[in-house]
Amino acid sequence: MYKILANTLFIGKKLVFVPECHSTNSVALELSQKQDLPEGTILITNHQSRGRGQQGNAWISEAGKNLTFSIVLKPTFLAIKDQFLLNMVVSLGVRDFVQSKLSAPVGVKWPNDVLVEERKIGGILIENQIQGAGFTNSIIGIGLNINQSGFHLNSAVSLMMASDLNYELQATLEELCGHLEKWYLTLKQNGSDRVREYYLKSLFGLKESRTFRSNDREFVGVIEGVDDHGRLMIKENEKIHYFNNKEVKFNLEPLI
Ligand code: BTN
Repeated sequence: MYKILANTLFIGKKLVFVPECHSTNSVALELSQKQDLPEGTILITNHQSRGRGQQGNAWISEAGKNLTFSIVLKPTFLAIKDQFLLNMVVSLGVRDFVQSKLSAPVGVKWPNDVLVEERKIGGILIENQIQGAGFTNSIIGIGLNINQSGFHLNSAVSLMMASDLNYELQATLEELCGHLEKWYLTLKQNGSDRVREYYLKSLFGLKESRTFRSNDREFVGVIEGVDDHGRLMIKENEKIHYFNNKEVKFNLEPLI
């Protein structure tokens, strides 16, 4: 059970809790098509039976242990071509929250995985509803591992595993949404420069030599940044390549 958030201006002022559902993103989308939800509405559950991740993957999370929720935003101030900025602000909000709990470095792996050192603690699935030239709703789905004590994949971690502490889920939701709202309002009120700057600062692997794989070709390159379309820029032998989501995978081991 979750309560309306007390520490924010608009995120979580309307909160819909469902004990169980297939996917909070799907339920939030259905609800937003039936009624005009206020910006910041949260749809949250204790258990997703078919949680969805990026690229058609499943998002599996132990019931009652973690945060699995969606926020309905209305970024009508944003041009569709700039939609990657939403990925940036949400990634930064989740990153800052996790970093506030840990001393180990927390980074954003392009496009929007949140990593503690090299292990994934949170994932983000943004689904935009577009009408004509603008956004109507943007469903921001967030899965953040909080109190789960182990995962099938060694590459996953929770806050509890990283800190040896247990967390109260309502309090973590409140704090996390405080960080999300701060970054969203930074974008809305001050524009994108600060957002781009901090996203780059938080980018996992920036300026490090690593191996990448694209179209069955393995190559060594250096991440130089992210362009205005949200494409990852990787330099290989003095030439910059631009990759859209799904077009490149990177090896987590740095080549030193
Ligand atoms: C990823 O890293 O692949 C993204 C994972 C996103 C998972 C969250 S959990 C809440 C929301 N509902 C879903 O079905 N997915 C997102």
